Amino acid sequence: RTVAVVLAGGSGQRIGLATPKQLLKIAGKSILEHTLTIFEQAPRVDEVIVMMNPGFVSDAEAIVRGAGLSKVTRVLPGGTSRNATTQLALDALAHLPAETTNVLFHDAVRPMLSQRVIDDCVTALGSFEAVDVAIPSSDTIIEVDDDVITDVPVRSRLRRGQTPQGFRLATIRDAYVKAWDDPGFEATDDCSVVLRYSPGVPIHVVAGEEQNMKVTQPVDIFIADKLFQLASSATPEFSDEDYAKRLAGATVVVFGGS
Ligand code: CTP
Repeated sequence: RTVAVVLAGGSGQRIGLATPKQLLKIAGKSILEHTLTIFEQAPRVDEVIVMMNPGFVSDAEAIVRGAGLSKVTRVLPGGTSRNATTQLALDALAHLPAETTNVLFHDAVRPMLSQRVIDDCVTALGSFEAVDVAIPSSDTIIEVDDDVITDVPVRSRLRRGQTPQGFRLATIRDAYVKAWDDPGFEATDDCSVVLRYSPGVPIHVVAGEEQNMKVTQPVDIFIADKLFQLASSATPEFSDEDYAKRLAGATVVVFGGS
């Protein structure tokens, strides 16, 4: 059995509006509804739970009802950090068998997740206890201390982590038990919790997609809106090849010419 946990407990401070970004509308629907609909349509996902910003639980419930999302069994308040929200979700799943349940944690604010990525994650959980989704980095990533470079890791070995992150329920539960014993515990995702606190567990990496972006900065709202316009004109999903074809057929404007 596979349960998807949609993490929507944040407030979107970097976007800086009074409404959390997961409730902003893109292409006519809230970001949260787009994301929940993807899991509703995923053949190998049996159940979905939503962890919502505590001040907006009724908004999420209204979205679930309005869209008729039958796989969503619960909408619960999230915690004060992403990891606290994950822990509350694990508490809510305490009744499920730890060895035979898979859990996929997904950022509510990644509304362009493809069915291919979900399917690859569930397949990988047949052989691995933990699975991440990542893409290569186009940018060189530098490490800094006080605005001075301390390291430039080799780009070909770097990946940008996305979600979902998938686990056998027993594996992620166990890692979190150990993490909360550490007074210095701090993380921005769930795979790093397994890596740090259950070091023997290999974490398999599934290929992500550029369009599986996390709406984080104000400009991302505009980019996501544009991507939805393109995606809705192509079915079932828009691949890199589709984008390239679209560009090849576009009128290219050369600046600086006469
Ligand atoms: N999240 C969560 N509970 C929290 C904080 C974050 O469930 N206490 C979720 C967010 O809702 C989001 C995902 O984790 O879907 C990724 O986090 P991020 O992009 O950092 O979202 P916010 O915390 O809302 O954004 P910001 O850091 O700008 O406030």
